[in-house]
Amino acid sequence: MVSAQTAANAAERSDVIVAIDGPAGAGKSTVGRAVAQRLGLEYLDTGAMYRAVTFAALRRGLDPTEEADIGELSESVVMTLEATPAGTSVHVDGVDATIEIRGREVTSAVSAVAANSRVRSELVRRQRRWVAEHRGGVVEGRDIGSVVFPDATLKLFVTASPRVRAERRVAEIGGDVADVEASIIARDRKDSTRSDSPLIETSDSVVVDTSELSIDEVVDHVLSLLES
Ligand code: DC
Repeated sequence: MVSAQTAANAAERSDVIVAIDGPAGAGKSTVGRAVAQRLGLEYLDTGAMYRAVTFAALRRGLDPTEEADIGELSESVVMTLEATPAGTSVHVDGVDATIEIRGREVTSAVSAVAANSRVRSELVRRQRRWVAEHRGGVVEGRDIGSVVFPDATLKLFVTASPRVRAERRVAEIGGDVADVEASIIARDRKDSTRSDSPLIETSDSVVVDTSELSIDEVVDHVLSLLES
């Protein structure tokens, strides 16, 4: 077990970037927030940024598959993200979108927005600026270790079986496990097969399977990886 103090000292030595990638519902956010807190680093949920652009598009009545319109929108939209213990709170053009970005409408449209290369390059630019301003951080997404920060201090690929991920989601928001599992598998396939920045395990990332581990066990494991 690594003490929080030792790990925090490690974080002070240089700008520490912890990249966390993996499929939806694997526990990336819970692990990411806990690791950030133990290291005294800021935490960035980049999925919330793709969701924020999607929210802005739907609010304007734009078609999320219209590449030029959505690309242009991503460059002008004003978004502020704030990490809280309960999750990331998000304002889009001054409107609180924290609840809506997790809703069904945004969730079903976000894959199309995340496949838009112009959106991706704009959000990657904003993510790099955020890390530069915060002197490092724990950054969670799908392409963080592969594209955004290929030189991150530590790259994690956090995963869990589709069944376990579905069971966790149903415990949180209800629904039928088999249906939720099917939609998780469909979303994984979309995220892993898109042409721009698909979700992949890089050869230098450490795979952490959270199916059988508690959050505390995962966090201790991650901190020990950083120490070594
Ligand atoms: O992690 P999430 O479910 O909130 O992500 C929302 C969507 O954005 C999901 O379809 C994956 C995509 N995404 C991405 O393509 N790249 C990222 N860095 C983060 C999320």
